[in-house]
Amino acid sequence: MAAAAGAVCVVLVALQLAGLCGAVSASLPVVINTWAFRKATETAWRTLQLGGSELDAVEKGCGQCEIDQCDGSVGYGGSPDESGETTLDAMIMDGNTMEVGAVADLRHVKNAIGVARKVIEHTKHTLLVGESGMVVIGKSGIVASGTSTNGGVHKIPGRVGDSPIAGAGSYADSTAGGAAATGDGDTMMRFLPSYQAVEYMRMGTDPTVACQKVISRIQKYVPKFFGAVICANTTGSYGMYLVQLPNFADLD
Ligand SMILES: *[C@@H]1O[C@H](CO)[C@@H](O)[C@H](O)[C@H]1NC(C)=O
Repeated sequence: MAAAAGAVCVVLVALQLAGLCGAVSASLPVVINTWAFRKATETAWRTLQLGGSELDAVEKGCGQCEIDQCDGSVGYGGSPDESGETTLDAMIMDGNTMEVGAVADLRHVKNAIGVARKVIEHTKHTLLVGESGMVVIGKSGIVASGTSTNGGVHKIPGRVGDSPIAGAGSYADSTAGGAAATGDGDTMMRFLPSYQAVEYMRMGTDPTVACQKVISRIQKYVPKFFGAVICANTTGSYGMYLVQLPNFADLD
């Protein structure tokens, strides 16, 4: 889930977890997560098994992290801003309809990704203001993605990271694939790495290579960039690339 903390790894439930940099599988469904938040990934997987949609799986998976306060960087009570308040950012994307629901700077709400879903269902808007990233591809290749975070520790009040920005924190397109990112959000939102990775996969680029290419592009301008991108294509191959793991307190 974009914007969190702890170990960076692609988590894939039900298939053998492969190596850190570049895993290839080719079976569906796939659930991948920017962080090794196992319970969140399992919740997403179980939701699919119980007949839920890909969007349901992303919502429930990221929602699990909001309940568990994964690494303190997702959900309520973590990463206070300079004035001591926790605010939440979240986004969910439907790769069939290309609809996005996003929320930023939410206060007094625990289930930020649930609110983001409601933005799709009940409004005509995309982003409402007031990192955890996940990609789910169902058996038929339908893609959904989402993020949830409480942002960086001691951020300036009002600061919003990449997580609720479609194309930055995550992107989903059932005709090409899905991607999600975590790391230096202020940099990532200028490059839209999740969008670009999906476009590479649309052109047939291998998921691991797609992740690598978007990070190298950022590094040309920001040599000290740190972050990770996870990518999955519609036939179930997936991969990831990461650079310079910092203290997780710096992530969102
Ligand atoms: C997904 O990636 C794998 C591994 O690179 C590749 O063999 C497969 O053709 C790709 N699928 C699509 C739909 O591009």
